[in-house]
Amino acid sequence: MGESAMIKLDALGKRFHGPSGLVTALDDVSLEIAEGEIFGVIGRSGAGKSTLLRAINLLERPDQGRVFVGGVDLTGLRSDALRLERRRVGMIFQHFNLLARRSVYDNVALPLELAGLTRREIRDRVRPLLELVELADKADQVPAKLSGGQKQRVGIARALAAEPRILLSDEATSALDPQTTRSILGLLKDINQRLGLTIVLITHEMSVVREICDRVAVMDAGRIVELGSTFDVLTRPTHPLAREIARGLEPELKLDHLFGERFSEVPVLGGTTLLRIAFSGPHAEAPVISDLVRRFNVDLNILSGTIDHIQDRPYGVMKVELAGSVEPVVAHLKSLELGVEVLGYVRSALRTAL
Ligand SMILES: Nc1ncnc2c1ncn2[C@@H]1O[C@H](COP(=O)(O)OP(=O)(O)O)[C@@H](O)[C@H]1O
Ligand SMILES: [Mg+2]
Repeated sequence: MGESAMIKLDALGKRFHGPSGLVTALDDVSLEIAEGEIFGVIGRSGAGKSTLLRAINLLERPDQGRVFVGGVDLTGLRSDALRLERRRVGMIFQHFNLLARRSVYDNVALPLELAGLTRREIRDRVRPLLELVELADKADQVPAKLSGGQKQRVGIARALAAEPRILLSDEATSALDPQTTRSILGLLKDINQRLGLTIVLITHEMSVVREICDRVAVMDAGRIVELGSTFDVLTRPTHPLAREIARGLEPELKLDHLFGERFSEVPVLGGTTLLRIAFSGPHAEAPVISDLVRRFNVDLNILSGTIDHIQDRPYGVMKVELAGSVEPVVAHLKSLELGVEVLGYVRSALRTAL
């Protein structure tokens, strides 16, 4: 990316004085985001996501490091020049931040009024934006009359009014139900494609990242602990937190509940083995399981299985109980570039009875 990055964060540091001492919100964070990318930042509450996002337009000024937007070093600008550069960056929020007494139209028009556009210029911008977010028929309503999804659409139209190159989204779907979330994410994707807008989106929900992000950074305690394409971070996370977040998308299977006393963390003589097999890469859709049974003459009991698409690539996870010799099976699966992990062991029912 280098010179052409739309956003470049260089060694950002930020500390706050909290009630119980100094808090490090950003700890040496460097990141480049390309033009036209939808970039996700995920992490737990308090990880530093909002601070990172707000540093992109210097709403939060870092103590250390530099922020470049479109090649311009914002950290070096005086306040009047910074104000102009900030117009390249729109922002949407979890709680919409609409003005309650203003109509939908006037909420979207506000940034343009502040920028000194004429009534006519404002109308020529606001009308198409209301069409874009499918709220043309609600122009004269006040926000209180709108649903959550409609309010966020107003927020999006307002953020786009000044024709920014970048849209920052701080948990913009966290207050919405799953169906409305999908429709807002669909709108963001549409805007990204139609207008070539770069989007940086922070969330604590991996399902949001999976839905629209090209790349994702996982944050923990002010640091980026994992960074990669959404597919790679979801299918082969390396940092423990990234793994935990990625696994959170899988249906939960409580092995100790399922097998009770028979479940064991360590191998047991004459018992079975529980495997998690992740299907991605060239063999994501091949009939691997039936082939295993034939090839190795093992008994295999499928406990759970899902198949999903991440960035249009198939990805499946299966949890199985395997009776028989495990090593050759694992070796074979690994030779197919499948992810294999032993989840535990199960004592045979017979032995428990004895
Ligand atoms: N204005 C502030 N004053 C004091 N502490 C703050 C302030 N803003 C953020 N923090 C602290 O910085 C850390 C990161 O916060 P934040 O960036 O909001 O995290 P996230 O968005 O991931 O939940 C947290 O410990 C938070 O309490
Ligand atoms: Mg936050």
